[in-house]
Amino acid sequence: MTDTAIPLAGVVGTPIGHSLSPRLHGHWLKRYAINGHYVPINLAQDKFEAGLRALPMLGFRGVNITIPYKEKVLMLADVITDRAALIGAANTITFRRDGKVQADNTDGYGFIANIRQQVPDWQASAGPALVLGAGGASRAVISALMGEGVPEIVLTNRTRNRADMLREHFGARIRVIDWSAAAGMLGDMAVLVNTTSLGMTGQPALHLSLDRIRAGTLVTDIVYAPLETELLLAARAKGCRVVDGLGMLLHQAVPGFENWFRRRPEVDDDLRRAVLQP
Ligand code: ATR
Repeated sequence: MTDTAIPLAGVVGTPIGHSLSPRLHGHWLKRYAINGHYVPINLAQDKFEAGLRALPMLGFRGVNITIPYKEKVLMLADVITDRAALIGAANTITFRRDGKVQADNTDGYGFIANIRQQVPDWQASAGPALVLGAGGASRAVISALMGEGVPEIVLTNRTRNRADMLREHFGARIRVIDWSAAAGMLGDMAVLVNTTSLGMTGQPALHLSLDRIRAGTLVTDIVYAPLETELLLAARAKGCRVVDGLGMLLHQAVPGFENWFRRRPEVDDDLRRAVLQP
């Protein structure tokens, strides 16, 4: 391999110091003995467009995009995948050989791939899903659940108006309820997903009584710090099937790595350990 062929990728955002993506991709590069690099790239708001456009020239095959640029990056893309358009945001950019900038969103894919890996016999058709939260993560989760064929999505958000907007966007399979009514719905749900930041280290707790939840309900949290959130601990005690949020982060990285480094990587316990080490 010549010097100029060393493939580069990275993650663009601001701030970027806390991103786990360099560690995640770094683990795969080492494991598959790929002569490439994955680096954090901090671009201030006024440098974002010029910075991103310069990357292919520098040898970058693509980048992940994180806060605060996941929506804004769509304006710079030549090709937007259907799932990125549906979600209204992108997390994975590929600088194609034909010069086009392609924007994809793999968050919904990561969400489902994580569930499939941790609960292989999960059936989307088993019943409705209750989704807490109506931000960017919620859009990815809703589009993924709908794509899998979940019969109904019951959506609740502190600010109800944002949930109503998602119903308008995603259509009649979404039913919006008040935040205060969520606990009372749990007896009818086959899936419960927290897409809010509640329960994350440093954030307020998620107060949701699981008294009515059925044993066997699939409960998952996109929060992964702590790995076992209060929600997941309470759900486990109720006999629910519990899926932590770290796997979503790991699986969403797979399509990008495969595009840029031409090898489909594995999500396994080694990777989890590498990403979790202090
Ligand atoms: P993301 O893109 O990660 O989903 P976001 O768009 O800021 O981030 O959305 C955060 C979600 O967490 C929202 O659903 C937000 O509710 P609001 O729309 O009412 O802001 C929810 N959230 C954050 N803090 C919350 C709190 N203290 N109580 C209830 N919901 C909260």
